[in-house]
Amino acid sequence: MNRPAGPGGRVCGPPVPAPAHPPRAANVSPVTPLLDLRGIDKSFGPVQVLHDVDFTARPGEVTALVGDNGAGKTTLVKCIGGVHQPDAGEYRFEGTPVRLGSPRDAAGLGIEVVHQDLALCENLDIVENMFLGRERSNGLALDEAAMEEQAARTLAALSVRTMGSVRRRVSDLSGGQRQTVAIARAVLWDSRVVVLDEPAAALGVAQTQQVLELVRRLADKGLAVVLISHNMNDVFAVSDQIAALYLGRMAAQVRTADVTHRQVVELITSGRSGDLGLRA
Ligand SMILES: Nc1ncnc2c1ncn2[C@@H]1O[C@H](COP(=O)(O)OP(=O)(O)O)[C@@H](O)[C@H]1O
Ligand SMILES: [Mg+2]
Repeated sequence: MNRPAGPGGRVCGPPVPAPAHPPRAANVSPVTPLLDLRGIDKSFGPVQVLHDVDFTARPGEVTALVGDNGAGKTTLVKCIGGVHQPDAGEYRFEGTPVRLGSPRDAAGLGIEVVHQDLALCENLDIVENMFLGRERSNGLALDEAAMEEQAARTLAALSVRTMGSVRRRVSDLSGGQRQTVAIARAVLWDSRVVVLDEPAAALGVAQTQQVLELVRRLADKGLAVVLISHNMNDVFAVSDQIAALYLGRMAAQVRTADVTHRQVVELITSGRSGDLGLRA
């Protein structure tokens, strides 16, 4: 598959020396993280948005990223996706320190972010949207047949049966179908990590259910999925881990099975819940 390669192959940029960093409390899990961010700081001018943030995502798991408006979720996701560069901290991919200079570098590692606005083109069809900017050519002409076939195969592999023709225009699709196209576009490229920023925010109940099932299938295929969501029912329905940001700090990252709705709401609203979370 012709995924865009980052400069120098798999790892983008020279490995950075590991900064001295105090050992953190172990987040006990049998699987090694694919993404492992530690001590991430990010400021915009004088405003520090992320403070010493740790975050991990493991293959085969859905990691929900939660937090109130302005907590820093999108900023963290943009650091993960190479849109922003952290000011400090360590970013490891499969245990190797990396420095991502752009979303293209992230894509080179198999990290894809589905942003909240989806960035689909209304006037183009499903195939054209899925290959936008990464079209396959056949000599001089675009290889329409190959792209159509691959788009249909990708949707089928995701068990998506509700789309109809892959030549439908995006302007004719429902919100849930658009979300599905954006997700399918993200997994078309041998992705290893898919980050979804509020995929169900604008969807009704049935469409939300379909998107959540799709999210679960991505993890079951072995991807590391990061799901930003405000909806506690969605988070508990689909996630294996929950990472709660509070005012730009990671209050806690916990296994979903180990916490209650109420504890997560407390982490979101006050940064702590009993023994969990930030110290005063
Ligand atoms: N490019 C930017 N320049 C300045 N401030 C920003 C920028 N991006 C985000 N912020 C600020 O960072 C904080 C966190 O924003 P964001 O990451 O979007 O939070 P969330 O996604 O959790 O709602 C907000 O106060 C926001 O105003
Ligand atoms: Mg946001």
